[in-house]
Amino acid sequence: MSYENIEVRTEAGKVGIITLNRPKALNALNDALMTELGQALKAFDADDAIGCIILTGSERAFAAGADISAMAKYSFIDTYKGDYITRNWETIRSIRKPVIGAVAGFALGGGCELAMMCDFIIAADNAKFGQPEIKIGVIPGAGGTQRLPRAVGKSKAMDMALTARMMDAAEAERAGLVSRVVPFEKLADEALGAALIIAGFSQIAVMAAKESVNRAFESGLSDGVMFERRLFHALFATQDQKEGMDAFLTKRQPDFKNA
Ligand code: CAA
Repeated sequence: MSYENIEVRTEAGKVGIITLNRPKALNALNDALMTELGQALKAFDADDAIGCIILTGSERAFAAGADISAMAKYSFIDTYKGDYITRNWETIRSIRKPVIGAVAGFALGGGCELAMMCDFIIAADNAKFGQPEIKIGVIPGAGGTQRLPRAVGKSKAMDMALTARMMDAAEAERAGLVSRVVPFEKLADEALGAALIIAGFSQIAVMAAKESVNRAFESGLSDGVMFERRLFHALFATQDQKEGMDAFLTKRQPDFKNA
């Protein structure tokens, strides 16, 4: 499939890479881009060869938010009735394979929210995260007020949403918003390295791990622990569990079949 607002490629036959590509608008997220992103994510998710997906932008911007020029003219009725602006953003939540956000430059507003929808974020040292919607008379509209406090706690989330200040990569790592920070020149390799490691494991175990960690945000501790235990037990029905444990015990590399 050909796309106008994103670039899509694979690496080593097992990692799908999606690059946001509206450079003139700092990768501002409009309906067309988000539709294409959803299509590309679904295509990789359905491809048995792909074990992990990377979502990235440019050196200057991961994404500078929802497209202000597209939404400036909307009325309340447009947005409410048509569920405009973020209606097609949730596709990423339905993706069952891991999605790594490789973030450089601005990740603002919807850009920060999109990064937070990834399973984890690896940031370049020039990354800047923010929820500056308050400056244009609105509030975050794609989960920022919900995911940011879960990631960095109430105080920093309030600070960012109310003052619109940006958080640099070092602060984002300290606060737990990103898992690692690397120099920009190393970002692509670092993300690819992580993706290749994930793609080398049993896809079934990887999907179960993602599902179980996500459950921590949707349930209480007892329910979450029980959910995890059931998935853990279920993995004993897979060939990959037999292979993984036998490989450990016989001191060899496992050969996972995703079965
Ligand atoms: N929407 C549309 N266009 C945008 C954009 C956005 N969110 N962000 C940047 N652009 C465009 C600019 O209009 C500019 O276009 P022109 O060259 O045609 O004028 C181009 O990208 C480059 O931007 P700047 O000249 O402003 O670059 P800068 O380096 O001076 O500043 C910036 C960079 C700080 C990111 C600044 O562009 C900015 O503040 N952008 C808006 C950030 C923002 O408010 N994001 C939240 C959007 S609302 C939202 O996301 C709602 C939601 O939760 C879903």
